[in-house]
Amino acid sequence: MIEKEKNDKITDLAVRKGFFWKSFELYGGSSGFWDYGPMGSILKKNILDEWIKIYRVEEGFLEVDTPTVNLDEVFIASGHVKNFVDIIVKCDTCKEEYRADHLIKDVLGIEIEGTNLNRYEEVIEKNNLRCPACGGKLGRCQRFNLMFETTIGAGGDGGKNGYLRPETAQGIFINFSRLSRLARTLPFGVVQVGKAYRNEISPRQGIIRLREFTLAEAEIFIDPNEEELSIDKVADNIVALYPRDYNGSDERGIAITIKEALNDKIIRNKFVAYNIAIANRFLTRIGIPNGKIRFRQHRKDEMAHYASDCWDAEIKTDRYGWIEVAGIADRGNYDLRSHSIESGQELYIFKPFDKPIKAKRVAIKPDMNIIGPKFKDKSPLILEKLKNGEDIVINDKDIRLMIGGEEIILKDGDYSMEEIEEEVHGEKIIPHVVEPSYGIDRILYSLLEQSYREELLEDNETRSVLGFKAFISPINVAVFPLLPKKELIETSKEVAELLKSYNLYVYYDDSGSIGRRYRRQDETGTPFCVTIDFETLDDNKVTVRDRDTMRQERVNIKDLGKFLKDLIERSRA
Ligand code: GLY
Repeated sequence: MIEKEKNDKITDLAVRKGFFWKSFELYGGSSGFWDYGPMGSILKKNILDEWIKIYRVEEGFLEVDTPTVNLDEVFIASGHVKNFVDIIVKCDTCKEEYRADHLIKDVLGIEIEGTNLNRYEEVIEKNNLRCPACGGKLGRCQRFNLMFETTIGAGGDGGKNGYLRPETAQGIFINFSRLSRLARTLPFGVVQVGKAYRNEISPRQGIIRLREFTLAEAEIFIDPNEEELSIDKVADNIVALYPRDYNGSDERGIAITIKEALNDKIIRNKFVAYNIAIANRFLTRIGIPNGKIRFRQHRKDEMAHYASDCWDAEIKTDRYGWIEVAGIADRGNYDLRSHSIESGQELYIFKPFDKPIKAKRVAIKPDMNIIGPKFKDKSPLILEKLKNGEDIVINDKDIRLMIGGEEIILKDGDYSMEEIEEEVHGEKIIPHVVEPSYGIDRILYSLLEQSYREELLEDNETRSVLGFKAFISPINVAVFPLLPKKELIETSKEVAELLKSYNLYVYYDDSGSIGRRYRRQDETGTPFCVTIDFETLDDNKVTVRDRDTMRQERVNIKDLGKFLKDLIERSRA
């Protein structure tokens, strides 16, 4: 099967079998939006269930569910308003819009990153790059913010600016104080799964580049002075690492254990290393072959504005080559620090010392002759906060604090500084964050592609199979009467009901030849088909047919539910 043919077949199969199709088809469609059909919805849910099983159940992280519409302050603080931009270039003649870095890479094979407009324009001019659609001249490059902007409320004075979130992470950071109180210790992790939005420029790659997509993200808060983490569980796991300075010839980079990668300082942060192993475990567990996975370290110029290091989990696809499906980023304390400054409320952990210590510090001494008249009845609360040194942010010479939801700013002159000695019981720590962030739609596409195969059968017929692991497959089991006879149909429906009581997703089918019914299920990825024949009526046994081996075995109806459940559970290994 040549690649092009395979790609067309997968798209055709995805649409025909109800995995996904273009959204808004009735009104002509809109790029970057795709619907999941009945099979795709279940497949996506099964992938997410496994993700949750790993991060919430096995890793013990907390979970939150926060709004997809956020106040603009959130993304001003996070840096997205300023930095979350792509460079756009438009054809002067046909008005087609292009993402400049993609156009330059696709046509000239040159990689450019960053947001310096001159660099893009220079390359376009020097190479006389024209519009691929009409050959027209390309216009000036422009910065384009990828966030969808909206108004919360009635607009005008009553409205407030907001954005659809481009990542779920910020909903976790802005809840840090509550979450850290619930977690009660460092390190701790918080996950969030949900929709995110990016107004991609001319997305043309199906569900690989969506304007509305599903993210599964974990934010792991770490004490920067104590990397308290045992990597024993993953120390000997082998992963394929593609460091930024790798110059070997293997497209997967180097195969190395997590332990060695840390010892050799290929990965510097233990939490990043650990989460690379977890990502590898998740992807292989859902059915991506290990040999198709690598972890590529970002070049310095491609890193997001908040990251100091990032390793992308990439899957080799037939259609798009290596694609990023997850990023494991070291975000340092960028987000907590930024939100402390923007909100005026410090986000930190108080870490008690074993024994109090005597320490000198520079204390803020308010000038009461100024503070009293200036802030009136708020003055006592201001003094209290300054005394405790809590929830105040010093930004240049301004001291910012919140009193009853109102921001108070003390200017230079409203206070002076003096050195005092005091007993100190602990220290404030701004945790650092390591973030594994997964693009679930891309993972689903890759899984579909990796799972597809065609087999030539003895009778020269070809069967198409989606070889999903049984636990990830949308349909758990299909139930057929061998022939459309009343007594076989009745028993089949009883068997189907019985299996539903085991929480299995059952598909009943009595139309067409048994061979055609098997083929339909093979193409959907159903791992088991159960057939009821005339012997069943005598011996209470059914035939269970395995999708991959096509072997059949007789199983007693009373054992059938547990028999299938065990096989499904075992497929997770
Ligand atoms: N939170 C990761 C990202 O926005 O890509």
